[in-house]
Amino acid sequence: NLEELPETVIECQKIISNLPKEISWKLPLNLHKYQEFWCYPNFLEGVMLAQKCFTPQPTDIILCTLPKSGTTWLKALCFAIFARSQYSDGSKINPLLKKMPHDIVPVLEFLYCMGRQRDSRTPLLSTHVPYASLPKSIIKCSTCKVIYMCRDPKDVFISQWHFVCRQLDIDAIPLQEAFDKFCIGLSAYGPYWDNILGYWKASLEHPEKILFLKYEDLQHDTLFYVKRIAEFMGYPFTAEEERQGIVQNIVNLCSFESLSNLEVNKSDKIGTAFPSKFENNAFFRKGKVGDWKNYLTPEMVKRLDQITKDKFNGSGITF
Ligand code: A3P
Repeated sequence: NLEELPETVIECQKIISNLPKEISWKLPLNLHKYQEFWCYPNFLEGVMLAQKCFTPQPTDIILCTLPKSGTTWLKALCFAIFARSQYSDGSKINPLLKKMPHDIVPVLEFLYCMGRQRDSRTPLLSTHVPYASLPKSIIKCSTCKVIYMCRDPKDVFISQWHFVCRQLDIDAIPLQEAFDKFCIGLSAYGPYWDNILGYWKASLEHPEKILFLKYEDLQHDTLFYVKRIAEFMGYPFTAEEERQGIVQNIVNLCSFESLSNLEVNKSDKIGTAFPSKFENNAFFRKGKVGDWKNYLTPEMVKRLDQITKDKFNGSGITF
């Protein structure tokens, strides 16, 4: 259905030009509000095209996150789980050793806004859109699965702030201004809390379709969650694989230390997986829980914690 796109692109651009706008953290770009979330216009074009045109394969697994919630890590882990048998005898080099995870597991909306095709041999795709804005074909597909990962809002905010500051050709607004915007929901694919609540509720209703994870839990017991993810994906580890240490090998391969020290991920090469200019090494900063303590004032912490408490009140989500 890619032939149908040119007309659709014009339709999407018309809709986008009439959406509500606000100044973003990245000057001079505006965030646009579409279906209750904020997004950059070039990304939105991809979101809309994916909503119109995307048809999943029955075995697809969609990795959903807010930016800076550990997407790169989740992509690496899921690919390593899925592809482990292809690289176990050492005759072929694991793509994770020579490509950055975003070049292996593409972002659905970025594929569409860049007019690219997926590699259908890998059943993994990712997206940042809220649950309610996923292409309906994903929701309707009875066999496709969704893995969602979220992260403490304070760490997400700080990680996003650093990422924007490092972005080429863009001036970032001061930390306090970005913080004020984050708190009122103005961040890429935000409001932060709504994105999480949408997937959380859906995961409670459809636990067989949606696995809900937290970055902090994965950091705390990566081995346990890698087994959990593999089981959910439909690629469980056998007792023999566990005995051979294959789960631990995947944990080690995908660790921050291992991935961030690979030549491809250390480099300041401009990645091709994104419509904006990001250097590969921008996706590997510290990889720690709680780095916000080095940046946020006590007043900022109090304000953000209170908003989070109020928004998640009664939901069962805590950080
Ligand atoms: P920090 O900026 O706090 O270091 P995303 O992949 O969604 O863009 O998120 C990026 C965040 O995940 C960054 O957080 C980055 O350092 C961290 N990260 C990247 N690879 C990781 C890994 N293998 N393990 C743990 N964290 C990782």
